[in-house]
Amino acid sequence: MSHNIHGKPVAGRGHIRSECEPVGTNVLAEPIQLPFSGRIAKNRFLKAPMTERLCSWSKGPDDITARGVPSKELINLYARWGEGDIGIIIGGNLMVRYDAVEAFGNSILCDNHDNRIEQFKELSAAAKAHGSLFIAQLSHPGRQGNIALNPNPVSASDVQLKIHWAGNDFGKPRALTVPEIQELVRRYGETAYLCHQAGHDGVQPNVVQGTKPEECQWLCMKLEEAKLDFVDLSGGTFEGRAFEHKKESTKAREAYFIEFAEMIRPHLKKTKLIVTGGFRTSKGMVDAINGGACDGIGIGRPLAAEPFLCKEILEGRVTGALENFVPLPQNTQSSGTQLHQIGLADKAISDWSSQEEVERWVEAFKIETERKRSIYPKIDSSGYPRIHAVAGFEY
Ligand SMILES: Cc1cc2nc3c(=O)[nH]c(=O)nc-3n(C[C@H](O)[C@H](O)[C@H](O)COP(=O)(O)O)c2cc1C
Repeated sequence: MSHNIHGKPVAGRGHIRSECEPVGTNVLAEPIQLPFSGRIAKNRFLKAPMTERLCSWSKGPDDITARGVPSKELINLYARWGEGDIGIIIGGNLMVRYDAVEAFGNSILCDNHDNRIEQFKELSAAAKAHGSLFIAQLSHPGRQGNIALNPNPVSASDVQLKIHWAGNDFGKPRALTVPEIQELVRRYGETAYLCHQAGHDGVQPNVVQGTKPEECQWLCMKLEEAKLDFVDLSGGTFEGRAFEHKKESTKAREAYFIEFAEMIRPHLKKTKLIVTGGFRTSKGMVDAINGGACDGIGIGRPLAAEPFLCKEILEGRVTGALENFVPLPQNTQSSGTQLHQIGLADKAISDWSSQEEVERWVEAFKIETERKRSIYPKIDSSGYPRIHAVAGFEY
């Protein structure tokens, strides 16, 4: 029998879990002092950025500055994670421009013309209410924004993303000029300043870099010189979503990028290294820390399924995350549905370790994708289909 956050047993919860033999989790509860800001993360857990798509949106192309204001659902979601004993909470990608967005419903903070900062303050207060650090992930989609929302995409080069993904088409980008890059850097700075005013503890630029270890090592050393507190090593692009194991050797160790982390960590003297992607059991997490691969454990999808997972792992109530049987690549979108269920304060969250629940979701996703296609290029939803949990658990 599983238990909810208040210790009450919840029937039917935790249908199938990635379990391991019980291990001491004290090492995960250790605080991390961030070397340059001096801020302290209360434990080694980090909630990975997951685009929530729960902000206000414009009716048409003429009022795009109405986009991006946090809703009460978004604030609810962060209040739950705030209660979940997570050392560092990273927000889903926050856009630095109104006209360059990853999706309908994105957060945007590039000015304060409508006093939106008040909403962002509420958001950070909810995330930080129990001592978590709250960090914004600053983002520009480059070539990875749907053409209907980003009619004139700009990017590092003019190479187009030639795929069709979850009802999205991507336009041919124009390569930015050097003055435009400088202007964009200024925009990142402006957004970082507004985030500071809104109560965030820091910002994390969403950086895409080559996947060769030498390139990544070089970049991480440069970032340390620039006094970056931590690097969160994760991965995945629209073309090659890396949210699964690519190598047999990493499977047993859970984290997809653990070998990559081991090549980088020796080059960092102060900057902390966090690895995100694939962690599912307390043993996998404890071994990664004890083995010296990383300083912290980043978790994405399992925290959409269970906002209190870290707390329950630390308390020894569970030894691992719920299984997720939604097939890739839709597997990320189904986590989006869970984010909305939590935000909307549904009593239960869908359990993707239940095959029937997965089938209900796959059907809802198909219907939503067809509906989206039928009104295209109008876009009126996040693309995360809304279902009420039948096989779910209370939290
Ligand atoms: C719904 C969803 C949204 C995501 N949005 C973002 C994002 O906004 N920025 C980002 O860098 N990664 C994003 N990711 C990737 C996650 O941060 C993480 O790297 C990935 O889910 C692998 O970790 P996991 O195996 O613990 O889920 C997203 C993942 C999911 C499932």
